[in-house]
Parts: sequence; structure tokens; C-alpha cells
Amino acid sequence: MSTDHYLQEASLGLFSSPGSEPRPGLRFQDLAGLPVLGLVLAFTGSLTHRVLAKTADSLKAKALMAFSVGFTRFVIASIVEVRKVLHFGSLNNVMMSVFGKSYEFGDEKSSSSSSGGDELESLVSEGYELLGIFNWSDHFPVLSWLDLQGVRKRCRKLVGRVNIFVREIIEEHRVEKAKKTRVGDEGDFVDVLLELEEENRLTDSDMIAVLWEMIFRGTDTVAILLEWILARMVLHPDIQAKAQSEINMVVGKARSVSDSDLPNLPYLQAIVKETLRMHPPGPLLSWARLAIHDTQIGHHFVPAGTTAMVNMWAITHDEGVWPEANEFKPERFMHGDVAIMGSNLKLAPFGSGRRVCPGKALGLATVELWLAHLLQNFKWVPSESGVDLSDCLKLSLEMKNSLVCKAIPTVFA
Ligand code: HEM
Repeated sequence: MSTDHYLQEASLGLFSSPGSEPRPGLRFQDLAGLPVLGLVLAFTGSLTHRVLAKTADSLKAKALMAFSVGFTRFVIASIVEVRKVLHFGSLNNVMMSVFGKSYEFGDEKSSSSSSGGDELESLVSEGYELLGIFNWSDHFPVLSWLDLQGVRKRCRKLVGRVNIFVREIIEEHRVEKAKKTRVGDEGDFVDVLLELEEENRLTDSDMIAVLWEMIFRGTDTVAILLEWILARMVLHPDIQAKAQSEINMVVGKARSVSDSDLPNLPYLQAIVKETLRMHPPGPLLSWARLAIHDTQIGHHFVPAGTTAMVNMWAITHDEGVWPEANEFKPERFMHGDVAIMGSNLKLAPFGSGRRVCPGKALGLATVELWLAHLLQNFKWVPSESGVDLSDCLKLSLEMKNSLVCKAIPTVFA
């Protein structure tokens, strides 16, 4: 493994899917610098800080660099902008579950890497951008044929590109299925769809729609929620320390946390629930909910064709429903089991009813496992810019200013 790869592992390699083998954290081989001497020369001058910054930059290890000075081992944490790392980690996690494929993006890409990462990222970003636009034509049909904002034209173009991208992967699966190259439980979600019996078989275009929806809805929700959680960990060092000592007690330092540990980490789960309450990634539950009949709710008449919307954010911030609603207090979830999967509208961050999020179990397990790794391996502290909790509603409710903080490694075995 090259130094460069190893250093990236330190920041990205933590992200394994629930159920998969945990990947190693920091290891002490391939340190930056010369053999034996390491980076000793950096420390003999008066510009050590600059030399270290330049070295980290050239190794693409700005977030975290491991090196030695003689026989002394160092690891240096710099500023991490977590959003991009989480976004690509989450995109690959969904791609692995749905398509059994992973990609390399941006700076990570090596010349030998499989192609498609750039196209995938561009499809996903274009989709998020289009959905984030308030399209006047949706609400004023008279404007619809004019398509003044060009949204319809861009959508049509995007659909064509998504069809080509996803169809190619489905075809690859068909070929592998015919050749029977996959063994045992190697199958992914595409294989499951292809296995459907005749009467439940989906057409190719339905399959593309289902698969794309999972990628699209499953990527940013996970990344955005984790960014909020890390922001809270930086802001509340006492809560962070309590979660770390829980992990330490249950898992210890000799091995990596795994998904079978999660049921024994109630405080970590409470942190995730409390973040979902205060910063629900989907604050307005409105996805495809239309009154199909005239309806009477209390004194109100709701005509057929009305879109119904539940403001989950308003419920989770209502003092009548949640005492001290604006305080971040994971302890409130430590007594009694508060359901969050949709059976109780006090807190339904994945929606409820027939259109509830189909990825809720995967999403929650992924967030809990990654958080456990992030807390087991790093202490999260603020950078000079501090933490700004202002939010901004695009497709999801995200941090207006992305979190920039320091990650100090705590495990070094
Ligand atoms: C922590 C992570 C997640 C959160 C907070 C979340 C939240 C939500 C919410 C609020 C909805 C709308 C429900 C409604 O309107 O009632 C939704 C829908 C959806 N989610 Fe998730 N989600 C997460 C992860 C995932 C994952 C990992 C996947 C797929 C792999 C996924 C796939 C979907 C799909 C396909 C829909 C649309 C369902 C429909 O239209 O019937 N989500 N999600």
C-alpha cells in the first residue's frame, strides 16, 4: 500500500457498510519521509509548520498525516472539511449495496481506477441541483409550456444520461447472471430485482427508476445527518466524551467497533436520535402525498388534488411535545424506547405510512456504525472558524456553512 493510499485510508477507510468487514484504521507502516530519519529535516529549521503543511499538501494528506522523526512517531491533524468526505463515502456505500460497485472520485482517483466516478457524481449533483430549484411552472400551469427556468429541458437531458448509466450496469449484471460468475451471497440489489419471478418482474425503465431513486435519496441524507452529528460532537465535548467512553467500555481499544456492537451502545444511538430530532434531514414530509378524495379534517374541508405536507421540524421543535426542545440532550432518549421509525409522529424523521423511507434501516445502521468508527478513532475539536448551526433547506435540511473542524486521532495501534 502506498503512503498516499494509507494516509487516505486514515480519513476515508473507516467507512464500511453495516455487515461488512471493518476496514483497518491507522497503521504504522509507510510513514511519510525518509527511512529511519523520517521528517527530521523539517524539525531542524525554523519553518517546521510550513514544511509540514507543504508535505501534507503534496501527499494529499492535509486532513491527517502520519510521519516519524527518528524513532518518534507522530500523527498530525489539520483541518477537515467533512462534507465532501462524507458525501463520497455515502455515495459509494449506496452504490455498493445497490449495484455492488464502488467508484473513485475527485482527488482520490488513480490513473488505473475504474471509470464512471465523474459521470456518477455529475448525475447526482445535477439531480440535487434540479430538485433544489423552486420551479414556478409546477405551481402555475400556464407557465409550464414556456419552461422559463429551463428546468424541464435539463430534466429531460438528465433522464437520458441516467438511463444510459444505469442500463449499462443492469446489462453487466445480466451478463454475469448468465455466466453465473457471482457466488454465494455476493448478490446486490440489482440481482434481487433481476431474480423477481415473472409476475413481479419490473420493466427496465421501472428498474432504472427504483435504482436511481435509491442512490439519489440514500446518499445525501446519510452524509448530511453525519455532518450534523459531528457538528454537535464538536459543540458538546462532554457528550462526545461520554459516547467515547461508552465505546471504550463496550469495545475497548484493541479492535474496531462492528455492527454487532451497536445494540450495546445506547448512548451513541441516543445521540443519533437527538440529532434526527433537532436537525431532521427531511423536515417536510411531502413526498407524493396527494388527497385523492375530498376529505374533512376537523372543521376543515380538504378538496381532492391537495398536496398534504407534515412539518416534522415544527413538531420536533414544539415545547409542548418536547420539553426544552431547543436543547441538545441525548439523555432524553435514555429512558424508555422512543420509536423513530414512523409509528409515532412525535418523531418520524423517516416519514410514516405507505411512503415511509424504504432505506430507513440501512440509513440508520450506516450512520450509527460510521459515527461509532469516527468517535472511536478521532477526537473532534473546533477549528478557528467555530461551528455555525444555521441551516438551509435544499432537497434536504443541511448545514448552511459546512462543518470545518479538527480530527485528532485517538487510536494508533
Ligand atoms: C439517515 C438517513 C435517511 C433519512 C433521514 C431519510 C429520510 C427520508 C424521508 C423523510 C423520506 C420521505 C418520507 C415521507 O415523505 O414520508 C424518505 C424517502 C425515501 N428514502 Fe430515505 N432517508 C434516509 C436514508 C435512505 C437510504 C439509505 C435510502 C436508500 C438506500 C433511502 C431511500 C428513500 C426512498 C427511495 C424514498 C422515497 C420513498 C417513496 O417515495 O415512497 N433513504 N427518506
